[in-house]
Amino acid sequence: MDEYIAVFDSGIGGLTVLAACMRQLPEEKFLYFGDNGRAPYGGQTAEEICRFTSEGFARLAAYPLKGAVIACNTATAAAAAAIRARYPFPVVGLEPAVRPALASCAGKVLVLATRATLASARFAALARGKEDRILPREPAGLVGAIEANALVPERIGLAHYLPAEDCGAVVLGCTHYVFLRREISAFYGVPAFDGNEGAARRLASLLGEKGSLGHSAAQTNKCSKNWKKSAKKRVIFLGEAKNTNKCVYFARFLT
Ligand code: DGL
Repeated sequence: MDEYIAVFDSGIGGLTVLAACMRQLPEEKFLYFGDNGRAPYGGQTAEEICRFTSEGFARLAAYPLKGAVIACNTATAAAAAAIRARYPFPVVGLEPAVRPALASCAGKVLVLATRATLASARFAALARGKEDRILPREPAGLVGAIEANALVPERIGLAHYLPAEDCGAVVLGCTHYVFLRREISAFYGVPAFDGNEGAARRLASLLGEKGSLGHSAAQTNKCSKNWKKSAKKRVIFLGEAKNTNKCVYFARFLT
């Protein structure tokens, strides 16, 4: 029987992570669940976010799973420990890519993330000792605007959402913002960092260590160039928003 890799997000943001994972693991089959109806999560309490994430995982766990990605910084901060404790397979989370951004420049690093992520203990741990170089900011309303403009997020007037700051690098600490990587980087005139590729690599390495991958690293390198060819058949979309998420994914990543 096929075993899947589950990818969870509050909405469409995790599609950017799904693409990175499918590129990294071109032989694997994926499930995507977006809780679009209850997004954004970022203004909710940690308890609510943990409950929503657990409910999403219960839907995904109806299928045989070999691994999972919490493709949402907000849900990772609130629920990763609970999800890892509940399931036997490796669970990779998403965290703001603070370290590489700090290493890339001598100036301030602007961290754009949801209110819940910025208030989390996990974020405090990531920022510890570097607080003087980090500008944590919530672009209020931006996740909702991206959900509402799923197929054309680049039409969103970013000046309305992004704080004016001087910085040497910007961290996209929410997977929704990755849809606007180019635009946000251009807005500040600095490089943008996100954790998507790192999460995909971590997933591949954990599954490799467990012997759960059906092919070698050399084969992966060979097929990753052609990852789009089989991609439509390698992913199943679940939940009430499955058609929206499928349509956005195909349009943004597979054409
Ligand atoms: N995409 C999510 C993240 O990475 C959360 C967005 C939200 O629902 O507020 O934080």
